[in-house]
Amino acid sequence: MALSFDTLTKRIFGTARSEGGSVLGIDIGASSAKIVQLKSAHGSAVLETYGEIALGPYGDAAVGKAVKLSPEKTAEALLDLMREANVTAKAGGISIPFASSLVMVLDLPKTDPEQLKRMIPIEARKYIPVSPSEVMLDWSVIPEDEGEASAFDRIEPETKIQKTGQEVLLVAIRNDTVRAYQTIASTASISTRFYEIEIFSAIRAALSHGVAPVLVIDLGAATTKMYIVERGIVRMTHLVTAGGQHMTETLGRSLGWEFEKAERVKRERGLVESAAYSTDENERIKAALLSTLERVFSEANRVLLSYGKRYNKSVSRVLLSGGGASLPGLSAHANELLQAEVSIADPFKRTEAPAFLSDVLQEIGPGFSVAVGLAIRGLR
Ligand SMILES: Nc1ncnc2c1ncn2[C@@H]1O[C@H](COP(=O)(O)OP(=O)(O)OP(=O)(O)O)[C@@H](O)[C@H]1O
Ligand SMILES: [Mg+2]
Repeated sequence: MALSFDTLTKRIFGTARSEGGSVLGIDIGASSAKIVQLKSAHGSAVLETYGEIALGPYGDAAVGKAVKLSPEKTAEALLDLMREANVTAKAGGISIPFASSLVMVLDLPKTDPEQLKRMIPIEARKYIPVSPSEVMLDWSVIPEDEGEASAFDRIEPETKIQKTGQEVLLVAIRNDTVRAYQTIASTASISTRFYEIEIFSAIRAALSHGVAPVLVIDLGAATTKMYIVERGIVRMTHLVTAGGQHMTETLGRSLGWEFEKAERVKRERGLVESAAYSTDENERIKAALLSTLERVFSEANRVLLSYGKRYNKSVSRVLLSGGGASLPGLSAHANELLQAEVSIADPFKRTEAPAFLSDVLQEIGPGFSVAVGLAIRGLR
């Protein structure tokens, strides 16, 4: 089922009726905000409503462009979105952008938890350029891989010597980032049950519980986030400053189109040839879109390589998420460009929804990974 262009600014569906026990997942991205309302019934997560609204127009920019809005403007967009999606729940989780946070794996000597508690803020100071009083810190010890000797084991025997260190996943968010989100939530009358860095939300919704490492590539508007998840734990992250917006700009320049037209053609036609264009145009559209993808995917291959080197195992699966993963025809090209088996995120698979929506949910799903993951956590 194809989406028409008017639904690009507002992809809405909703007849949410029940209020008790319903929760929201709210993902305010650089170019658009997404909302998902779920309720729990007979053990499953039931999709009550969802919607997306482009933020560009709230900052005098085109649909598909990344914009930096004030908390008040963002709240205004969120309220419009909630109204048009018939959202009835008032509470839920909100994501914090990966770019506003710091997620890293520290290699520390093995110590007891008390000593670790003292050690981490000191260690964190080396990587965080602001005063410790300005950030919220959280961490967890990455458990040692007990399954190392299992069938999934790809570690060379010589590296399996007794480890003297431990890995700690460190997460930091600036207090003023959280304050901005608090303003957005209170202005939009949302009661925030939790904040979560977007990558952790996306993992919950889009990844199945495998042990083998997977590279997740979130193709956003201005940036692309990459992270390797192994046994459900984030082990490596990488941010690339190129995304869907760059793709639209290149396409516009190449074909002499305004941003709006290039954005529309990208979403409707993507990498799939269309009779609406001449052979030459078809070639140029494809080449323009591929040029950004090639750049992003060559970075992804570098991430795969460096992970392979560091942990001495190969990452054989890539999961594409984010709005950019809805690019028509992406799968085949991604499989060619990436040195791994590629799949596209389908977070609504985790929810129960009317059958007539299944095509559209699969199509728009990648962009909703974060919002669905937040709402699922909210249900727990
Ligand atoms: N069907 C589609 N085909 C191709 N690109 C698409 C499609 N739908 C959305 N996009 C692109 O996806 C990008 C937006 O993705 P997404 O909504 O995940 O980003 P965001 O969450 O706003 O940004 P970020 O995650 O970087 O903060 C835009 O560049 C948009 O053009
Ligand atoms: Mg996003």
